[in-house]
Amino acid sequence: MAKKAVITGITGQDGYYLANFLLNKGYEVYGMHRRSSLDIEERIADLRGKIKLVHGDVTDTSSLVNILQKVNPDEFYNLAAQSFVPDSWTQLESTAEITGLGVLKCLEAIRLTNRDIKFYQASSSEMFGNTPESPQNENSPFLPRSPYGFSKVFGYHATINYRESFGIHASNGILFNHESSKRGKQFVTRKISHSVAEIKTGKQDYSLGLGNLNAKRDWGYALDYVEAMWMMLQQEKPGDFVIGTGETHSVREFAEEAFGVAGITVKWEKKGVDERGYDATTGREIVSVDSRLFRPAEIDLLCADPRKARENIGWEPKTDFKGLVKIMVEHDIENLKGKTGG
Ligand code: NAP
Ligand code: GDD
Repeated sequence: MAKKAVITGITGQDGYYLANFLLNKGYEVYGMHRRSSLDIEERIADLRGKIKLVHGDVTDTSSLVNILQKVNPDEFYNLAAQSFVPDSWTQLESTAEITGLGVLKCLEAIRLTNRDIKFYQASSSEMFGNTPESPQNENSPFLPRSPYGFSKVFGYHATINYRESFGIHASNGILFNHESSKRGKQFVTRKISHSVAEIKTGKQDYSLGLGNLNAKRDWGYALDYVEAMWMMLQQEKPGDFVIGTGETHSVREFAEEAFGVAGITVKWEKKGVDERGYDATTGREIVSVDSRLFRPAEIDLLCADPRKARENIGWEPKTDFKGLVKIMVEHDIENLKGKTGG
């Protein structure tokens, strides 16, 4: 009989890749989505007919219990979150309720219905904040720098406590930034790849405004990372695993690489530019720094030490930094030219 998996956050980047990954493994996939005033069909168009959709919200325990009673899955992947760090300062309580307390509600629903359901929690490298250690491993201290980060720390500890107190097979994947052409356009990598594509295809003729260019992140490819989620739940014993590439790059490097893929030379200086940021003398695109995009507290450097995952569950990333940037920029260019579907 096919294994059954419930995925929360099915409309998000990872929900898409994980659903496809599990479908390829022969799973029956149930994607949970919350009520929306607009049709969600477009966001899950590529999964239509392949997965079963169920209504629920991680802030509502009864909806979770109902789903688990009806589906009785083998595995439960909690990917739901308010995941955009800047919004966590402006939507403080809802971030804490979804990204933090929501994890506890998922675990409680499992405890109340069937403790044999294996649980994956989407923990984050944001929990490390400005930790003094680099690279960061499973023992590095958490010093979160945002309401998103400290909500994730709550979810992380809830997961460990349900494992230790109730014997639930519950694991934390401490995932570093992972990106793709399904990434929301407010995240910096997709913002850059999409702008580069607009400039390349003549849909935009001037600048890209970015915040802190010096922040460094360990960026990997989402498709590689969902495999790690699944691998964790196939282990005899649950655990907590750092997942990342072990390489770190600045936002400036990402932008330079992205413009490079499109064959565009970036001009960084503001000298001689008009109010739009366009340099009429050279005709080159300019990346300008917009201080409104700076965060109340920044994480300067994230870099994973994924040794435990490699040695214990056999996971390794397949896509490097340059490969990732190429995939994203080329996809966005083709998409804007109307050659691909999205
Ligand atoms: P994403 O694209 O922002 O997707 C988040 C998903 O959560 C969306 O489907 C969203 O649904 C859903 N959601 C939000 N509030 C909900 C609620 N109250 N009840 C049910 N669903 C709700 O995030 P992602 O990049 O796929 O990341 C997946 C998970 O991994 C998140 O928990 C994120 O925090 C974590 N994570 C991501 C990264 C990364 O680099 N991508 C790294 C570490 C950890 P709507 O469409 O209704 O908003
Ligand atoms: N979003 C954004 N937009 N970030 C910018 C910009 C900009 O215009 N300019 C510079 N940055 C910098 C941010 O200050 C941050 O240091 C870095 O780029 C990455 O920002 P995001 O892409 O928004 O991602 P994040 O690192 O804050 O968070 C993502 O990764 C986490 C894992 O470490 C999210 O996916 C989180 O949900 C995830 O947990």
